[in-house]
Amino acid sequence: MITQRSVQEILSVVRIEDIVGDFVTLKRKGANLGGLCPFHNEKTPSFNVNPVRNIFKCFGCGEGGDAVTFLMKHENISYPEALRYIAKKYNIAVEETEVTKEVLQEKQLADTLFIVNERALKFYQSQLFDTDKGKSIGLQYFKQRGFREETIRKWGLGYAPEHRDVLTKTLTTEGYSIENLRKVGLTSQYDNDFFRGRVMFTIQGLSGKPVAFAGRIMQSDAKVAKYINSPETEIYTKSRILYGLVHARKAIQQKDECILCEGYTDVISLHQAGIENVVASSGTSLTTDQIRLIKRFTPNIKIIYDGDAAGIKAAVRGLDMVLEEDMNVKVVLLPNKEDPDSYVQRIGATAFQEYIEKEAKDFIFFKTQTLLEEAAGDPIKKAKLVKDIVSSIAKIPDPVKRQLYIRECSALMRVEEAVLIGETGKIVRKNLEDKKAGRAAPTPSVSDEAGQPTDNQKVIEETFGEKKPQELEKSGTDYQDLDIARIIVMHGEALFIADRNITVADFILLDIEELINNIEDKLAKKILSEALNLLKNNEKVTQQFFLQNPSKEIRDFATNVFSSPFIYSENWENKLSRPLETQKMPDSNFEKDAIYALKRFKLVHIDKFMKISHSEIGKAIADKNVEQETKWLKIYMKYKAMHSILTKELGTVVLKSV
Ligand code: CTP
Ligand code: MN
Repeated sequence: MITQRSVQEILSVVRIEDIVGDFVTLKRKGANLGGLCPFHNEKTPSFNVNPVRNIFKCFGCGEGGDAVTFLMKHENISYPEALRYIAKKYNIAVEETEVTKEVLQEKQLADTLFIVNERALKFYQSQLFDTDKGKSIGLQYFKQRGFREETIRKWGLGYAPEHRDVLTKTLTTEGYSIENLRKVGLTSQYDNDFFRGRVMFTIQGLSGKPVAFAGRIMQSDAKVAKYINSPETEIYTKSRILYGLVHARKAIQQKDECILCEGYTDVISLHQAGIENVVASSGTSLTTDQIRLIKRFTPNIKIIYDGDAAGIKAAVRGLDMVLEEDMNVKVVLLPNKEDPDSYVQRIGATAFQEYIEKEAKDFIFFKTQTLLEEAAGDPIKKAKLVKDIVSSIAKIPDPVKRQLYIRECSALMRVEEAVLIGETGKIVRKNLEDKKAGRAAPTPSVSDEAGQPTDNQKVIEETFGEKKPQELEKSGTDYQDLDIARIIVMHGEALFIADRNITVADFILLDIEELINNIEDKLAKKILSEALNLLKNNEKVTQQFFLQNPSKEIRDFATNVFSSPFIYSENWENKLSRPLETQKMPDSNFEKDAIYALKRFKLVHIDKFMKISHSEIGKAIADKNVEQETKWLKIYMKYKAMHSILTKELGTVVLKSV
């Protein structure tokens, strides 16, 4: 039992953002932090952390509470375990009342199976380090494989003795119940140890708790399975665990990329070599849950396949769900007979990193190439391949990305682009319809007739969905334009950065100088260009300038702005879901107001440019003008990147992107 004093100390020290930050990538959102909710699947962040109140809340699924609640819920652990997690993180010594056999029994019931696993881990470790057999067989084996002692300790490696029930006997004598030992899969129904005569690997959850074990035989020619793994238990669901994630998480966030390999030893070796953004799916094929786990930390994933080629085709076929999750997937194939462990130990970390950097191929291209080799000279296989690739491409949610892939793959497969566009469009639409109808997407049906000319308008529609280019031309930027004008009129003269003498007018106008000519609203354009002229002539942008302006329109606007500062508020509220906060007291809030308005302003203009480039892409596709298409695609991608940065900063996606 943790003493009350300890509990108080732990609770007084814990910061919600630290704890949640261990599991979710958080970004600043004003005074709060936001991210993708770990409790439900979402594409845009509705998960909020409030550091002042020390709580979290998801506006998507409603989950909320303090750091302890978060840990209990997220890690499926008990109250004391959550407290211990926090204590460990902040280096607080946990004061516990003495554990008697009775208390232990109670605790076992209440405290789940982790304690059993923790004890077993200690057992395997002490067998490895403190017994003669462990040292001469197990430790020797790990050292031979190039694992340093600190690595062996860090990864919880151990040794399970040959004898039939050492672990079971030891633990039951200490008061651990045989039922719980069976429940975690350490003891068989005949009371034998499950792992015997093997070196041991600990499988940890995201919090670092041991959820399962794996044992490897040490001889190479044995007839038994090389690895055996704990069965699935209450605390271990294989498809939801990525080996090494607890140690890799930070590096994955820092590098904004996750390297995925196949085996336990691959992960350990790469980490030991200093490449730490690495996890393994542990022999099974990647699951959607595992992908979502990665996605919490990064959208970029690089999968390294052993150089034995055997499983590759199957693996590649099973990867489409990564595309559906909108992840950027790259694939690396190692040289023949190498796996990451052997290869990094042979050539060293630097050369290894260079290799995977150089050899990484985009997943769809990799798949296309791999299947092409397989289909060489076989027209039926080739037709299937086209189907296969098209259905992969159709899974990508982003239409522009889809178009880029279609372009490249049509060249690779020597199939006319129009055909791929047509077929992809069909599947995309079908998937959409199925989704609407709540049906699961069935395997796509693709016609095999190649070279059929498709009519242009249809091509555009199928590639870009229902919207037609003409409809995209309209844009609603007026509010933003007037809003910026309002801020310039009200606060133009105010110092935005006091020590550098930068005014709100400087801050905003110099930033949008190039955009002013594009402003549609005539009044806003007039106000902003006159203000810009003032700046250029080294004059101040004062309120008087607008209030006493020769133009009646400008005077009226200014008077309006001052006499009723909330004049636009209803529209803003409705149309832009502008936070009330910046509406309430514009005077005291002008900096925030200015930043917000500026970002919004840029966003709508970028949005407009995106729509224009989008429709240009459509036109170019229709004209079969590849050069134009490439040009506009590039422009589009540039705006899209800017757009996504801005929406992230604004923390809200109000305007739909095309
Ligand atoms: N695996 C398993 N059971 C097996 C074989 C493999 O669970 N009988 C899983 C393990 O997680 C293993 C991964 O599949 O790490 C990859 O298998 P493999 O490439 O054969 O092993 P390595 O990881 O290379 O292990 P080692 O280097 O120890 O041979
Ligand atoms: Mn290996």
